Amino acid sequence: MSLFSFKSVKSVFVRTAIAFALVVVSAIASAAPAHAETSDRYIREFLQAKEPVPVQVNPSGETRLFSPDDLYEGKRLFMDHCINCHVGGSTLPSPTISLSEEALQGATPPRDNLDSLIAYMREPMSYDGSEPIYWCREVTERWMPQETIEKLAAFILRAANVAPGWGSDNFDL
Ligand code: HEC
Repeated sequence: MSLFSFKSVKSVFVRTAIAFALVVVSAIASAAPAHAETSDRYIREFLQAKEPVPVQVNPSGETRLFSPDDLYEGKRLFMDHCINCHVGGSTLPSPTISLSEEALQGATPPRDNLDSLIAYMREPMSYDGSEPIYWCREVTERWMPQETIEKLAAFILRAANVAPGWGSDNFDL
């Protein structure tokens, strides 16, 4: 008799514990996406973006604000589509043409602002701007509309501006 009641208590306990665990798990799962965006450690610490930050949009130096969520989205796109050749802002197949601020500035025309960086991504050109090249990844309008490619470009520029080690050989994104 005592064994029986012990068992039933235990099973009630187990059932309650399982139900509780399910509630906790689903609460975490539903809260996670919103949280991950603003609390991504890389965005906060390496990109120093706890609030919207200015990114240069054209050669004359105008800027536009991008939120931590925009940069997070840009980082996600970068991780999905560019990282294989550009880990940590480097360019593995062609190390001198990295995504560092210095390298972007040195290109013709300079690629250190949103408009020209996007123009490059739409049609990758040689470093001296003289001819199209085919070993970087072309980003078509159909693949990433303007609004999406802007976030990717903003991520790259913010990283080039402030992330320690971005574009050098020993950076680990
Ligand atoms: C298959 C490898 C590969 C992939 C994938 C790739 N790239 Fe590249 N990328 C290169 C190479 C190689 C160069 C140097 C090209 C040259 O010789 O001018 C380059 C150059 C660049 C440059 C010019 C850097 C400078 O200093 O002027 C930018 C910007 C760039 N890539 C962005 C991107 C973005 C954004 C993506 C993802 C959508 C991407 N790349 C994906 C190989 C790649």
